[in-house]
Amino acid sequence: MEELRELYQQIILEHYRNPRNFGELSEATHRAEGNNPLCGDRLTVELRVLGDRIEDIRFRGSGCAISQASASVMTTLVKGVTVEEAEALFERFHRIVLGETEPEALDLLAAFAGVREFPSRVKCATLAWHTLRAALHNVAEVVTTE
Ligand code: FES
Repeated sequence: MEELRELYQQIILEHYRNPRNFGELSEATHRAEGNNPLCGDRLTVELRVLGDRIEDIRFRGSGCAISQASASVMTTLVKGVTVEEAEALFERFHRIVLGETEPEALDLLAAFAGVREFPSRVKCATLAWHTLRAALHNVAEVVTTE
């Protein structure tokens, strides 16, 4: 169990130090800003959706290791999937970090299951996902984790 916990911490640190899909997206079709009022951290998520598929995604902003790593992992999971599949991933992630379901083996989302004991950390982990959802629904105002 301890080894697994360390592996999850390594995944989070690695994505924090080397975030995937970080930066601006040219020809974005969807965009949203997310805000965690507890700390003031903000995140921008941009998508290029063609048909019903997320062709490309970028995020940028600043935040703690968990929020940045979660955003990075999220982009790797939703790039290339359909909007419906991205919504399903959002739902599964949400249930994992709230402790409502257990992640499957080798599930990257499992790295964030440890936040379930810390409500403020749940907000860090879900910031990017709430912002993704807002972008998919073209929500104009800044979404918050509150
Ligand atoms: Fe700001 Fe985690 S402390 S998002």
